[in-house]
Amino acid sequence: MILSLVSQKGGVGKSTLAISFAWELLARKRRVLIVDADPQATASVAVEVAKELGHPAPSVVAMGKEMYRDDQLPAIARGFDDVVIDTPGKLGDIQKAALMVSDFALIPVGQSAADVWTLSSTVVLLEQARTFHQSLQAAVVLTRRKPRTAIGRNARAPLEASGLRTLQSETTDRMAWQECIGAGLGVAQYAPRDQGAVELRSIVDEVLSLMVVPRKRKKVSNGR
Ligand SMILES: Nc1ncnc2c1ncn2[C@@H]1O[C@H](COP(=O)(O)OP(=O)(O)OP(=O)(O)O)[C@@H](O)[C@H]1O
Ligand SMILES: [Mg+2]
Repeated sequence: MILSLVSQKGGVGKSTLAISFAWELLARKRRVLIVDADPQATASVAVEVAKELGHPAPSVVAMGKEMYRDDQLPAIARGFDDVVIDTPGKLGDIQKAALMVSDFALIPVGQSAADVWTLSSTVVLLEQARTFHQSLQAAVVLTRRKPRTAIGRNARAPLEASGLRTLQSETTDRMAWQECIGAGLGVAQYAPRDQGAVELRSIVDEVLSLMVVPRKRKKVSNGR
């Protein structure tokens, strides 16, 4: 599976989710590549930290807007079970290129109206990418929800208006999500009993279940 984290809004948790998602797939014994398409290089630094601390880490490669070319990501991706692409916090050529090669676009969105308003431009970008790649799937994931706030309690309703699928799973605002990256680990490895780990595993399971291609039914012969 090639999964990209995209959003028009910066700071909504793309890199945080990309890193923990990739580490979780690695923990599930899959061969994982992170494509760091963000000049901020958050994912690349996280992998460096992990290596320095002696933790297992996914492979990582930096790529830009040419990644969709046959000799770029499609060529490298063959050596891995999963690729997780972290993109910059701005819709543009890099996010478009990521979507053109992805099977699944995960769109983190915060609980504020300002975050939700950006979804319409993401929908346009998804439509453009689907002219190249019809089977591209997409889902919004609510991030950093604060369940004790009024806005946090009602955060799901405005998402339904976006016309995009919204995952049942979400992340809430928790320290473990912030701390894990500096520790060179995904949240589920950093704090396996924390609610953040539960949230992450649920997101990974939900995305993988959406990626399962229904098997073709065998024709049952009635002997005639
Ligand atoms: N569930 C969470 N709980 C608490 N803090 C979080 C959570 N998710 C992300 N954060 C924090 O929010 C900030 C922004 O997260 P992150 O860098 O992953 O966003 P981003 O979308 O990749 O940003 P950019 O667009 O700048 O690349 C970071 O400080 C991160 O630690
Ligand atoms: Mg980022």
